[in-house]
Amino acid sequence: MARIGIVYHSMYGSTYELANVLAEGIAKAGGDAHLRRVPDPLLPDEVKQMEGVAAAIEQQSHVTEATVDELPEFDGLIFGSPTRYGSKTAQMQNLMDQTGGLWQEGRLVGKPVGFFTGAATIHGGHESTILSLSTFAYHHGMVIVPVGYGVAEEVGSTRTGGSPYGPTHWSPMGDQKDGIDEDEREIALKYASHFNTLADKLAA
Ligand SMILES: Cc1cc2nc3c(=O)[nH]c(=O)nc-3n(C[C@H](O)[C@H](O)[C@H](O)COP(=O)(O)O)c2cc1C
Repeated sequence: MARIGIVYHSMYGSTYELANVLAEGIAKAGGDAHLRRVPDPLLPDEVKQMEGVAAAIEQQSHVTEATVDELPEFDGLIFGSPTRYGSKTAQMQNLMDQTGGLWQEGRLVGKPVGFFTGAATIHGGHESTILSLSTFAYHHGMVIVPVGYGVAEEVGSTRTGGSPYGPTHWSPMGDQKDGIDEDEREIALKYASHFNTLADKLAA
């Protein structure tokens, strides 16, 4: 059974929601998924106290914090970050920037890796954020697992989130959409199953 780490950062909770769908998909496929929350030493206290942010912090308070030292212990890693100006968050970058020791020792070489994100607008950075997350994997020599168009047929028809690069969600402000929708969920579940199969094979 592959042990898979889902390492995510989420300020308002929607990336956490998508991380949970991925964990559900891995469990359904017979894998062993572990959520890990990226530590946030960067957010100012006044922002942490804002209504939506405080609620999301409380909602995720039970999730174990991600540590650099634990990353090599997983058979596969899936990283998730909200979009910030078309790129990943500084909090996720901060975690990745602490992996120099692992890089020097080649501890993540050959490990399967995937990425997921969310953005408030449909064309506001789903693909570019995943690409920005992925540079980490090239430098570590990891095996990048995308969704493509073959793993989930919904990738070709979704009108919201979901991409060939990785699972994504569209999280607009206001009442245009409520949570992860059916296409986003199906793409994430099918991707998780696919990822688990590959992680299992590579770990064998
Ligand atoms: C500083 C900042 C920059 C953002 N930049 C973008 C952006 O470039 N494109 C976009 O569609 N959404 C952008 N957003 C919205 C977030 O990506 C969106 O709310 C995200 O999906 C929330 O994820 P979370 O609920 O896990 O925190 C930005 C939000 C913040 C706070």
